[in-house]
Amino acid sequence: MKVLLLGSGGREHALAWKLKQSPKLTELLIAPGNAGTADMGTNIDIDPNDFEAVKKVSVDNQIDMLIVGPEEPLVRGIKNFFLNDPQLASIPVIGPGRRGAQLEGSKEFSKDFMFRYGIPTAKYKAVTLDNLEEGLSFLDEMKAPYVLKADGLAAGKGVLIIDSLDQAKADLETMLKGKFGEASKKVVIEEFLDGIECSVFVLTDGSAYVVLPEAKDYKRIGEGDTGLNTGGMGAISPVPFADEDFMKKVHRRIIQPTVTGLQSDEIPYKGFIFIGLIKIGNDPYVIEYNVRMGDPETEVVMPRIKSDLLELFEATAAKNLKNCTIEIDDQTVTTVMMVSGGYPEAYEKGKEMTGFDQVSDGIAFHAGTKLQDGKVVTNGGRVIAMSGMGANMKEALAKSYKNAEVVNYEGKYYRKDIGFDL
Ligand code: AMP
Ligand code: GLY
Repeated sequence: MKVLLLGSGGREHALAWKLKQSPKLTELLIAPGNAGTADMGTNIDIDPNDFEAVKKVSVDNQIDMLIVGPEEPLVRGIKNFFLNDPQLASIPVIGPGRRGAQLEGSKEFSKDFMFRYGIPTAKYKAVTLDNLEEGLSFLDEMKAPYVLKADGLAAGKGVLIIDSLDQAKADLETMLKGKFGEASKKVVIEEFLDGIECSVFVLTDGSAYVVLPEAKDYKRIGEGDTGLNTGGMGAISPVPFADEDFMKKVHRRIIQPTVTGLQSDEIPYKGFIFIGLIKIGNDPYVIEYNVRMGDPETEVVMPRIKSDLLELFEATAAKNLKNCTIEIDDQTVTTVMMVSGGYPEAYEKGKEMTGFDQVSDGIAFHAGTKLQDGKVVTNGGRVIAMSGMGANMKEALAKSYKNAEVVNYEGKYYRKDIGFDL
């Protein structure tokens, strides 16, 4: 099979690495990819949100499948674009259509979905400038801290958690007046849930599904979970507190009603559902849905999957997942994200990287790198996800950290405490 994979992060390098192990793969194109994916297939320098460019690559190369890594092309309707184009309509797309992608593209849509199907989640109210007064009184009824979320996609920055009521009221107004552009013209106010987070990943064909290994990520820049939020500074799978009893509840209360809810709403869905969970006592609540895999979670999930991922995608496309099982390695995988100095605030790109030849017994998944004049240089805030595997978390982390030491570039930073809370 000829596969086109859209995206350029560590998630895409990990997906490409896993796909490359499939005997069914004949050719892998990654658009735009990075210096790491260049070793897995052919990078093609186009913007995944430029659907005409994606069409040209798909037609010129006669691809057999499109796999969409990031959320933005999905929310913009790349699946619908393929379905509506006679030259593309027969190409299977892994990723939901525009309506399904609203699970991530609109916080209000996803909260309404959860409430309609009895899926446990925080209480909420959706507010625009037209019902600001209702929003302010909803805040009055809540206890601190206050959670404000931009309704639309805001590149992971649209959530504010605020201690003071007056500040929350002021921030609500500035959000509605465009603090996060169009994305925050509507804001979802949520009850604060206090617990420990983990993420569960489902691959569904719209009726059947397989559950991938769960993972926990570390979102803050500083050790001890302090400082600014990032895209993710590390991840671990499996998650010790996501034990059998907890996962049974996740199946019964969350995954099953999510998939049957999509069917009841007549939303065809072939792709990943990433369910961000919070465990309170022994019970799971949904913090958010994403319609793609997580990054850096993919960099710990993929190495644990023993099954052929391309076969699972084929079954997804053929609506045949009910006949599939997924085999999981019970070892632990950790990843440590190496970032650019200054991230998640301003940082420089283009720093030359060295030491890859000394990486051993682990995988350097490239997140923000590119090839320049034959050299690997930094090309983003998050640069390399160093993944290690072992019999337990300690062994896996030792490998991640050993390899994080040998790869060098100016301004290198990573957290040294991934897994500290487990
Ligand atoms: P989201 O973009 O919805 O994943 O939110 C980003 C982060 O904010 C989550 O990973 C949580 O750590 C936190 N968060 C979001 N919603 C809530 C909530 N209702 N209660 C507590 N923390 C939350
Ligand atoms: N690591 C969180 C995300 O991918 O959204």
